[in-house]
Amino acid sequence: MSSLESILNFATQLAEKAGDLIVEMRSGKHLSVDFKQGIELVTNADIAADKLITSAIQDQFQDHRILAEESAPDLEKISDLSTPLWIIDPIDGTVNYAHNHHQVAISIAYCVRGKVQVGVVYCPFQAEMFTAIRGQGAWLNDQPLQTSSVNDIQRAIVATGFPYDKSETLPLLMKRLESILQHCADVRRLGSAALDICWVAMGRLDAYYETVSPWDFAAAQLIAREAGALCGHFIDVPADMPEELYGENLLISNPHLFKPLKSLLADAENAR
Ligand code: IPD
Ligand code: CA
Ligand code: CA
Repeated sequence: MSSLESILNFATQLAEKAGDLIVEMRSGKHLSVDFKQGIELVTNADIAADKLITSAIQDQFQDHRILAEESAPDLEKISDLSTPLWIIDPIDGTVNYAHNHHQVAISIAYCVRGKVQVGVVYCPFQAEMFTAIRGQGAWLNDQPLQTSSVNDIQRAIVATGFPYDKSETLPLLMKRLESILQHCADVRRLGSAALDICWVAMGRLDAYYETVSPWDFAAAQLIAREAGALCGHFIDVPADMPEELYGENLLISNPHLFKPLKSLLADAENAR
C-alpha cells in the first residue's frame, strides 16, 4: 500500500468515527449551541469532533501540523510549506446540523507543500463518503466520480453560499447572485461548501462559487479536480498565497462552464 493510500485509509476511518459521534450527539439530549463572535453558530459536537480528529492525527504524526476550524484556526499556516499540513473542518454545515438537516460533512485534507494530496469529505446522515488521492481519481463510496457534461450556461445549476457576517459584502454578493440568476437555470444554497463542491464532482450540481476558509474547501476541491472539474478563482489570487488553499472568490465547475462563469462573476461588479 502506498503512503498516500494509508493516509487515505486513516483519514476515512477518522471521518467515519467523527461521523458516528456527531450523529449520536444530535440524537441525544446533550447538544448545546453557542455563537462565535455573537453570530457564527457552533455546537459542542463541532468541538468534540474537532478533538477526536486532531488528537488522532497528533498521536499518529507528531511532526505534522494541523489547521482545524475549532481548535487551531491560525490561517497563517497555509503559507508555511515546511512540513505536511492537515486541514480539518469537524462539521461543515453547522447551521444544517443544528437544525436537523442532512447536508452536513466532516472534511479532512492532507497537504504537502501547499498541494492537497488526499481529500476526504463524509456526510454521515446520507452515508456518503467522498474521497480522492491526487492523480488517482475521486470516488463516492466505491464509485468513480465525474462532473456533469452540461455545456449551456442557461441549463447550469449553480451552488453558492453566504458568510455569517454580511455587513460589508452584501451589495457585492447580491450583484454576483443576480448575474448568475440572470444567465443560469437556477441557484442552490445547500449550507455545506464541502458537499456543494463534492456535488459538482459527481454532477448533482454544475458549478459552485463562494468565498470560504481553507477548511471548508481544501479536501472537496481535490475531489472535484480529480473528477474532472476546473478549480480556480474569479478574481486573481495574491502572488504570496498558495493558490490551492486560498478561499476567496473560489469557482469550481464542470470543464465547459468555468470560463463563462468566471467572466460573469468577475464582471458582476460593473454590470448594469
Ligand atoms: C459554512 C458552510 C457554508 C458556507 C459558509 C461556511 P460551517 O461552514 O460551508 O456552506 O456558506 O461560508 O462557513 O460554519 O458550517 O463549518
Ligand atoms: Ca465549514
Ligand atoms: Ca465548521
